[in-house]
Amino acid sequence: MKLLLLGSGGREHALAWKIAQSPQVEKLYIAPGNAGTAGVGENVSIKADDFEAIKTFVIDNAVDMVVVGPEDPLVKGVYDFFKADSRLSSIPVIGPSRQGAVLEGSKDFAKAFMQRHHIPTAAYKTFTADTLQDGLAFLETLKAPYVLKADGLCAGKGVLIVPTLDEARRELKEMLGGMFGQASASVVIEEFLSGIECSVFILTDGKHYKILPEAKDYKRIGEHDTGLNTGGMGSVSPVPFATKDWMKKVEERIIRPTVDGLAKEGIDYKGFIFFGLINVEGEPMVIEYNVRMGDPETETVMLRIKSDLVELFKGVAEGNLNEKELETDNRSAVCVMLVSGGYPEAYEKGFPITGIDEVQDSIVFHAGTAMKGNQVVTAGGRVIAVSSYGKDKEEALRQSFSQAQKIKFEKKYFRSDIGRDL
Ligand code: AMP
Ligand code: GLY
Repeated sequence: MKLLLLGSGGREHALAWKIAQSPQVEKLYIAPGNAGTAGVGENVSIKADDFEAIKTFVIDNAVDMVVVGPEDPLVKGVYDFFKADSRLSSIPVIGPSRQGAVLEGSKDFAKAFMQRHHIPTAAYKTFTADTLQDGLAFLETLKAPYVLKADGLCAGKGVLIVPTLDEARRELKEMLGGMFGQASASVVIEEFLSGIECSVFILTDGKHYKILPEAKDYKRIGEHDTGLNTGGMGSVSPVPFATKDWMKKVEERIIRPTVDGLAKEGIDYKGFIFFGLINVEGEPMVIEYNVRMGDPETETVMLRIKSDLVELFKGVAEGNLNEKELETDNRSAVCVMLVSGGYPEAYEKGFPITGIDEVQDSIVFHAGTAMKGNQVVTAGGRVIAVSSYGKDKEEALRQSFSQAQKIKFEKKYFRSDIGRDL
C-alpha cells in the first residue's frame, strides 16, 4: 500500500515511525513532514491544508490511503473534499468529516453534544457580544477560579483560567470584543474542575472502536507545572490512576455514548478521538474533545501499540474494526521534549543539532527540525522528543533523561520532572 500522512510535528514523526513498521506499506509519504519523517518515509513539500495539491499528488502517485495528523485539515474538511471528488472518493481518509471535526472546532458544539448524550462534563453556558450582560451575571453564580473558553480554534491559547471575579468579567468583555478574533465571538464559561488530567484515545470506524493506550501530558513550561502553557513538554503511558475500573467508567460513560451519539446524529466519523479527561475524585469527566491524536502523547502511545497500525486503519476505512486485533505493550513508555530556550515565548531558530546518532535504546522523534544542507537544525519551539521504554516509568524516564543529555543544541531546555507527580 501507498500511504500519505499529513502533518509535520512530533506526532506525525511518531505516526510515521509506526506506520512504516507495517509489512503492508510499500511507500509512505509525509506532507510536509520534517527532518525526522524523512528517515522513515519520503517528505513531499505540500502543506497539510493545500487540498488541490494533495489531490494532484494522490492521483499522480496512486496513493491508497490518507492519514491526517493535525486538526486543521480536518476542520477545513479534507475528508469531505475526498468524498466529494469522483477521482478521490474511493481513497480512505483516516480522520473525521468536517462535521465530526466540529467536536474540536467548536467548544460550544462539543459541550452541547455532551449534554445531549449525558456525557459527564463541567456545567457551562455560552455567550456572545449580544448576551454579554447575561454572561457577567452567570459569572456571579460560579465559584473561583473562572474558566473562559473561546469557542473556536486558537492554537491552544483560547482557554483562560482566572482567579478573581473582576478579572473574569474583564476577560469576558475582551474575549467577546475580539481578543481571539472570530474564534472568541462566542465564549463558553464553565465550572472549574479540580483533578489530574489524562488523555484517552480511540480509533473508531463510526460504529466500533478500539481504545488505545492512555497517556498523561505535561503542558506547562516550568518544573512542577509552573509557568506558561506549551504544546507539551513530555508524556507518560500508562497512567497509574487509569485503572481497569476507572477505564470501565470512561468506556461506559464517555466513549460508548460519544461513538453512539455521533452515529445517531448522522455524523460521519472514521478516525481518532482524543478525550481530554479529568479525574474528579475518582470520576472521569470530559474537559475537551480533540479529533486527532495528542502531541506529545503520540510519542508514547505509538510505542505501546504492538499491532499493525495500518491493519487497524483498514478496519476503520472498511467499517470492520471489530474484527481487528489491538495488542498493546505492557511496558511503560515516556517522552521528554527538548525545546528551544525562550519557548513558549520568543526563541531563536536555526541552531545545529548534534548527538542524535549517539542516542542508544531510545527513539528520537523530531518535532521542530529542518535540514540546512546536511545539518539538522532547530526549526521550532519544541524541537525533539526523546521516547523510551522501561519496565516501569522510572526506568523509562532514566533512559530518556540519559539520552536527552547526548543531544545538543544552543539554549536546549527540558523539564526534568516529567512523570514525577504520578
Ligand atoms: P482545553 O483547551 O479545553 O483543553 O483547556 C486547556 C486546559 O485548561 C486543559 O487542559 C485544562 O488543564 C484546563 N481546563 C479546561 N477546562 C477546565 C475546567 N473546566 N476546569 C479545570 N481546568 C480546565
Ligand atoms: N497534548 C495535548 C494536545 O495534543 O492537544
